[in-house]
Parts: sequence; C-alpha cells; structure tokens
Amino acid sequence: MKILLASSEVHPFSKTGGLADMVGALGKALAAAGHEVGIVTPLYRGIRERFTELRATDHRVEVPIGDARVAAGIAELQLSKRLTVYFVDQRDYYHRLALYGDNNTDYPDNPQRFIFLSKVVVQLARDLPAGPFDIVHVHDWQLGLVPALLRSEAHRTGWHSPRTVLTIHNLAYQGRFAGGGFGLTNLPPAFFTPAGIEYYGDVNCLKAGIIYSDFITTVSPRYAREICTEAHGCGLDDVLRARRARLAGILNGVDYDEWNTHRNLHLRHPFSLRKLAGKAATKLDLQRELGLPARADVPLFATVTRLADQKGVDLLLAVLEEMLATNLQFVILGSGDPALQLGYQALAERHPTKAVARIGYDHALAHRIEAGCDFFLMPSRFEPCGLNQMYSLRYGAIPIVRRTGGLDDSVVDLSENAQLANGIKFTEFTSRALAGAIRKAHALYRTPKILARMRKNAMAADYSWNRTTTEYEQVYRQALA
Ligand code: ADP
Ligand code: GLC
Repeated sequence: MKILLASSEVHPFSKTGGLADMVGALGKALAAAGHEVGIVTPLYRGIRERFTELRATDHRVEVPIGDARVAAGIAELQLSKRLTVYFVDQRDYYHRLALYGDNNTDYPDNPQRFIFLSKVVVQLARDLPAGPFDIVHVHDWQLGLVPALLRSEAHRTGWHSPRTVLTIHNLAYQGRFAGGGFGLTNLPPAFFTPAGIEYYGDVNCLKAGIIYSDFITTVSPRYAREICTEAHGCGLDDVLRARRARLAGILNGVDYDEWNTHRNLHLRHPFSLRKLAGKAATKLDLQRELGLPARADVPLFATVTRLADQKGVDLLLAVLEEMLATNLQFVILGSGDPALQLGYQALAERHPTKAVARIGYDHALAHRIEAGCDFFLMPSRFEPCGLNQMYSLRYGAIPIVRRTGGLDDSVVDLSENAQLANGIKFTEFTSRALAGAIRKAHALYRTPKILARMRKNAMAADYSWNRTTTEYEQVYRQALA
C-alpha cells in the first residue's frame, strides 16, 4: 500500500511525548513491512541544523487560511528505501522556541498553525509524485480536520481521494476553538453543524476527525472501550459510540532498535536478561550522577513524565512525603505544570539524600533512569497507551501502574498471574492505593527470588512492532473496503 502519515511531532525530529515515538516507529515498521510510506510534519526550529541530509525541494504549497493565503516550502528526507519525511517549511508558524507553546501557555495561533498543516497534507496527498496514496493516516487533533478537508476537496474536484484513518492518542486534547474561527478552514458551511465539526458553538478538530474519517483507532484496547463511556469520553463519548463499528484499540509497539539495553549510546554498561551485572552498575552510576548515596541495597523508584494532570503526579507527590520516611530513593525527570515542578523541587530539598527532582527534558537521562531504577511509577488518572511502562519492562525496571488504559493492557500483576507477573498494579486513584503499591514494591525488593522472576518476565515481554503493524494493516484494509 501507499500510506501518507501526518503528525505534529515525529521522533527523532520533534517530540513532546509518546505521539512522536509512536508515529516515528509506525512509519519505520510499515516501510519495513514493504509499504511505501510518507510522513508529513512541520519543520520546527533546529531540525534543519540537526539533520544535514535534509534537502529542499522545488515543491511549494499555498493554501487559503480564511481570507489570507499562506505558502510553504517542502523539505525532504529519505529515511530508508520506502520511507520519506516531508517537512513543511513555514517559518512564521513553526520556527519557534517550542512546538505548541511557551511557559505552559499554548500559542494563540495554534488553530491557524494546524489548520494550515492539515490543508498542506491534503495538497500533498493529491500532488506528491510519490502518490497516489491509498491511505492518509492522521494523528490527534492537530490533523483532525484532514478527513473533512479531503472529502470537501474530492467533492469539489471529482478527485478519487485516499481513504482516511484517524488515531486518537489522547482524547483530552481536542483542538477546540471559538466557532467564529470556522472561516479559517474555508470549508462549506454545511460542515459546521452539530452532526459535523461544530461542538456547542465551537470548532472541535478531533470531533471532525472522528466523524469524517473512514476508520478510527486509539492506542490500546482498554482505552478504546473507556472512551466510549461518559466517565472517560471527555464529552465525545456519544460521537464515538455512534462510530463504534469503525473504532479499534491497537496497543502501540516499542522501537527496540532505540529502546534496548545492550546496544545503546546512552548506556555505559550494557546488560541483558542473561547478563544483569550491567544493570547493577548502571544503578550505582545513576545514584552517583544524581547525588544520591550509591547503594545497591536501597530500592530506587523513578518516573519520567510530562508534569500534567493526566499522569497522577499530584497524587504521587502527596504520597511520597510519607514513603520517603522508609528506606527508599526516588527520582523524577519531568517538566510541565509550574506548581508541580516547585512541589517536586521542594520535596527534593526536604529529603536531599533520598529524593531528586530533575526539571526539564532530557532524552539521554530518560534512558539512564529507565535502566538504572528498580521500580518505574505511572500512577496515571488515565493513560491511552503509555510507552514508558513498556520501556521500563525491557530495561528490567518493574512498572508500578494504575489499572487504566494501556497500562492495564501491557502490565501483568502478581494477582493476575503469579508465573507471568512483571509489574504491580493498583486500581483506585487514591493515596492509600498508591502507597499500598509502593509498599508492595518495597516488600518485593526484600524477596529477591520473586523479584528476579518478575524482572525476567519484564525483560522478556515482547511489544515489538510486528503485531502492531499487522493490526494497522487490517485497519487500512477495512478503511479501503
Ligand atoms: P505521553 O505521551 O502521554 O507523555 P508516553 O508514556 O506515551 O506518555 O510517552 C512519553 C515519552 O516522552 C517517553 O518516550 C518518555 O521517555 C518521554 N518523556 C516524557 N517526559 C520526558 C522528559 N522530561 N525527558 C525526557 N523524556 C521524556
Ligand atoms: C499520548 C498518550 C500516551 C500514549 C502516546 C502515544 O501522548 O498520552 O498514553 O502512549 O500518546 O500513543
């Protein structure tokens, strides 16, 4: 098949979270499976400097955004034989300090920036010499308008347009803005109704994607069920239920070329299931790097995360105060909500020999933390898939997760299967339940035999892309049928 992916972030070019990892890896996996793949994404600041193989093309695009006309160049990077990335070069929109906003505030022109990107995707789907594409597969609200725009264009010109798939990585972000901005889409007014793009008078980009795409996926089976309920539907559960027959939950895969413990630029001591000595050495290195006492006998708990409501980091902060009275160490690497940043920094100041807060974004340190820690904490309120728990499994760090979304689908608790257990799960979103899970981990650390078995199960768990790719191929076939 010929498949055009489109995403507002793609690893290794741009990233704020798992979306980038997923789209980068999906592109690679589809190309490896024999498909012709293109990926459309913005040319953010710094990408050209870091990827010198990137070359400008003669291809230029120009689209209307309301009454204005906005143009962009297209730069290209051939990643492998069947995989090309098309970067949309529009300096005013994308040459900025951050992807979506500064100082925890979204850029006010995000609607324009991503309506523009969506329109460029439609043009490229029509005009790229690599086409005609069978499938255009878009991700999250930023590209949510693409299916409607494609339809409108096909209707207007008689174009036999590609089929569309939308993947929802996070239903909480919908790209909603005042209805007065609908004109920016230049779509016919018939699209702006409650049965279409309108949502209580506003434009809702994700809703548009749910309604006009040929197929919808989300990133785990459990999250696919959850978002059809009022409790987790973020106000779109009825829209999703109406399309349930065309909605599938597919667990993300892990790019083990990148996330492995034996051939990894970021790790000084390689290790594997059979040679675990490197893991112990990595832990001691990490403790020293963080300024914690280097002690093998003290369990090291960690998390690497966006500091956002979704992640349950507020609950964790509350619980840690009490937990740090026991014999454990804790490190957090994250950025986001300023109040949480301050909260974790203050916690670390109160417990300098036990807790460390690294505020910021650091890809290499994320690898060292996953590899060096004993337990990886993900107490999320909700979690569409979650990649870190799967990375920590491979790195021999036992994940402690709340039973929600993809966390539930990817981790096995002792109570579910004593032989195959690879993590610790808790259910209620309460301090008591989270503290209970941390106590269990603590006890486990003093039971080396069971811990060793769980670690072995964790490291052997296989979330490679083979299965995920087959499932997306099935979805593409259904979208084409
Ligand atoms: P989400 O996409 O909701 O943030 P995921 O678990 O799917 O959650 O993916 C998070 C990704 O972002 C992981 O690759 C993780 O290592 C990375 N990440 C998050 N915060 C940081 C940080 N502060 N420094 C480095 N990597 C981070
Ligand atoms: C979103 C979700 C996360 C998921 C990631 C990749 O950022 O919050 O759970 O793993 O997308 O699909």
